[in-house]
Amino acid sequence: MKVLFVCLGNICRSPSAEGVFSQRLAQRPHMHVAVDSAGTAGYHIGKAPDARSVAAARKRGIDISGLRARQVTAEDFHRFDLILAMDRSNLADLRRLDPGNGAELHLFMEYAPDQPLEVPDPYYGGDQGFEQVLDMLEAASDALLDELQSRC
Ligand code: 4NP
Repeated sequence: MKVLFVCLGNICRSPSAEGVFSQRLAQRPHMHVAVDSAGTAGYHIGKAPDARSVAAARKRGIDISGLRARQVTAEDFHRFDLILAMDRSNLADLRRLDPGNGAELHLFMEYAPDQPLEVPDPYYGGDQGFEQVLDMLEAASDALLDELQSRC
């Protein structure tokens, strides 16, 4: 199973999702899931995650400082089984790019039914937004891992 997390810039939400999901996946050593992240936009290609995302993740024992931003490619739709968007705008962009017959596309938060459906973009807000994003990503990661448990 291969999972790709997607947001707009690939410097805040989706690298955080990759880090949170990978940390929780490591606690389930019998499961085999490959994880990556990408952005629908190309503004930040090659850059490390936003310093505020790095700091917030570090407080929870997750190091995302080595990740580098990249843009979604047509190949991603064939290489990945699941492509998980952070918000509806990301999902709409992915649907436009999708050549078809490949990955399933979903909002990541669909897996956590007691949470809001969209991960809010924390880029223009304060530090509290980054904490809220991590809380949501933790809930959705655990729910997705439960769902995938029997398949991977
Ligand atoms: P992300 O946040 O999509 O969670 O990585 C953003 C990062 C940068 C921009 C927008 C959102 N930007 O417009 O530069």
